Amino acid sequence: MSPIIAPSVLASDFANLQSEVEMLNRSQADWLHIDIMDGRFVPNISFGLPVQEAIARHAQKPLDVHLMIVEPQLYIEQFRKAGASLISVHYEACTHLHRVVQQIKDCGAKAGVALNPHTPVSVLEDIIADVELVCIMSVNPGFGGQKFIQNTYSKIEKLKDLILQKNSPALIEIDGGVNQQNAPELLKKGADVLVAGSFVFSAADPEKTIADLKNVAY
Ligand code: DX5
Ligand code: ZN
Repeated sequence: MSPIIAPSVLASDFANLQSEVEMLNRSQADWLHIDIMDGRFVPNISFGLPVQEAIARHAQKPLDVHLMIVEPQLYIEQFRKAGASLISVHYEACTHLHRVVQQIKDCGAKAGVALNPHTPVSVLEDIIADVELVCIMSVNPGFGGQKFIQNTYSKIEKLKDLILQKNSPALIEIDGGVNQQNAPELLKKGADVLVAGSFVFSAADPEKTIADLKNVAY
């Protein structure tokens, strides 16, 4: 089965956002990954609701929104209205994660939970049956273009076991430092969704790079 490919718009040319989104529409990308950073949960600020709305006006594919923000419960409905199909919140940012997951579902989006590199997958034991996506961060969130953390492979195996054990519908998404070299091993371990930012957008031919990832042998 080929993976779901979700290029991260964070690495695109913001001055030419419409043509970048049109390239993603033409490409074999399945989703558009939207990185929202608030300068508090992570030490960087990316973009917010108006930019996501602008992307949504041109995108012909689902927006996979990754909220790297504190108090995400205050903004779920607004991100949904701005075109999000999937909304992932960070485990580390939610005191009442179960409530936030229900809130995401109640507004009609699919619910995801993202885990920082140091957070074990075992913390999801009592929520995994309710979530549709788990985003394993394979870099420390906040910046594109960082080095892939090797420990990610064993986290995928542990998460896969947990998903099977709890009969969860969750897809496993890997976010950070993904490229053509590590993709086969990530997929072998059980990843379903690959996010790729700099690897796609710094390539000479991003459309072909997306196709190569989509069709990678593993
Ligand atoms: C990091 C973001 C990632 C990032 C991935 O905080 O969540 O989605 O854009 O970028 P690359 O693929 O360049 O590591
Ligand atoms: Zn992300």
